[in-house]
Amino acid sequence: MPGAVKIAFAPFAAPAKGVLVVFTDEQLRLGEASRAALGRAGDLLARAGKAERFAGKMGSSLDLVAPAHLKAARLIFIGTGKDEPKSSDFIKLGGIAMGKIPPSASEATILADLPGGAMSPEQVSEIALGATLRAYSFDRYKTKRKEGEEEPAKAKVTIGVADAAAARRAWQRRNATGEGVTLARDLVNEPPNVLYPEEFARRASALKKTGVAVEVLDVKAMRRLGMNALLGVGRGSARQSRLVVMRWNGGKRGQPPLAFIGKGVTFDTGGISIKPAAGMEDMKGDMAGAACVVGLMHALAARKAKVNAIGAIGLVENMPSGEAQRPGDIVTSMSGQTIEIINTDAEGRLVLADVLHYVNTRFKPKLMINLATLTGAILVALGNEHAGMFSNDETLAERLTKAGQETAEKVWRMPLAPEYDKLIDSKFADVKNTGGRNAGSITAAQFLQRFVDKTPWAHLDIAGTSMGSPQSDVNRSWGSGWGVRLLDRLVAENYEN
Ligand code: BES
Ligand code: MN
Ligand code: ZN
Repeated sequence: MPGAVKIAFAPFAAPAKGVLVVFTDEQLRLGEASRAALGRAGDLLARAGKAERFAGKMGSSLDLVAPAHLKAARLIFIGTGKDEPKSSDFIKLGGIAMGKIPPSASEATILADLPGGAMSPEQVSEIALGATLRAYSFDRYKTKRKEGEEEPAKAKVTIGVADAAAARRAWQRRNATGEGVTLARDLVNEPPNVLYPEEFARRASALKKTGVAVEVLDVKAMRRLGMNALLGVGRGSARQSRLVVMRWNGGKRGQPPLAFIGKGVTFDTGGISIKPAAGMEDMKGDMAGAACVVGLMHALAARKAKVNAIGAIGLVENMPSGEAQRPGDIVTSMSGQTIEIINTDAEGRLVLADVLHYVNTRFKPKLMINLATLTGAILVALGNEHAGMFSNDETLAERLTKAGQETAEKVWRMPLAPEYDKLIDSKFADVKNTGGRNAGSITAAQFLQRFVDKTPWAHLDIAGTSMGSPQSDVNRSWGSGWGVRLLDRLVAENYEN
């Protein structure tokens, strides 16, 4: 069932047509509501389960066509495993359920019921979120369909629940987060000829509709502020750089904001230190940090989060040209610190240096979290499963770790230390923009920290999690929208009043 879905909620019942999805555990038990809805068809589980060696393992499924005693065309059992699902499992179960519904189905019903009882409205909303995210696909640029492939209709998924009104309320909130993820994915998937800094700024400006205040600073404004580190990266491009500042004021007046900062390199050729050709097309996703920040700001505004939040994204294109910056150049950042450019491909930290300093001095935020596809080295260290987390603050690090476990957008803490910081001392300037081959992700983080001061801060290196990552139960698209759910959860759990 690809393409967009329409989610609805209704009291538990067997549908008159379409696909019916029911959850069961490793003892092939059914919840009370599922048993009632299936009636005599419930007996099929034991018989067919045995024949198919279906044991109810987490994520496994048993698919019955034209099931006896039911009007539904298809009955799908999905295993939830031995133990009760954890909080991060519900979104996965929603994704798995969606993945089992065949593309030809235009209607499906999922019973949000477990052997232990009906799911809570929150759990139901996670099922719905998983189903929507799984159905996402980016095919804006496909004009032809493969033979036999039909136009994907907007399929209807009804989730059977104990209390439909309560489920709808929970979903309204959760769906705001889902829209944020979708927005982030769309931005990451867009090609770089379409999504250059100015166009990105225009898309971010659309958040005004949701009640977010959006300011766009152009090159002249940034020059006045002394943002030469950011501007140096964009110098080689025919596309002008932009800085977008988004503000959501849902909290108390005067309360210091949370600040989210994103790397928005709309395409990273490496510049004069040019990258090899193989795989360079992936560098259209080098703005995934910025995409996440935009998606998060949408989510916070759309669910009217009771928090003051700033989103700031540095938008540049890193290109080689006669105007491009060179290895050996020295630039003066907005903070006053001078930076020796060793490698023009270490550009993300240059962009973030100015945006971090700008946000810190202008807004005096309670904390700053930046997201960046910063280093290939984080892929070597952590692969696609965890984002690298660097932080100067224990509380913030713990809260991020916990939110990561709950959302399955996991972070793994990496070290910061003066010994690593020494590696980026420069012969000619205050700091240099690379620290050599070893500890590449750490020296990049040390570089950022020099522009942060004492403010509680975390840097998330999302090069491995935000794009091209192996497809998961809740994502089949190249751009994953990673981080929106994590940060939305972090805010909801710790900072709303
Ligand atoms: N955008 C890249 C990092 C990246 C690599 C993101 C692979 C996603 C996938 C970043 O700007 C970069 O080029 N980093 C260099 C730093 C080096 C020159 C010190 C790298 O990781 O090789
Ligand atoms: Mn680069
Ligand atoms: Zn980059």
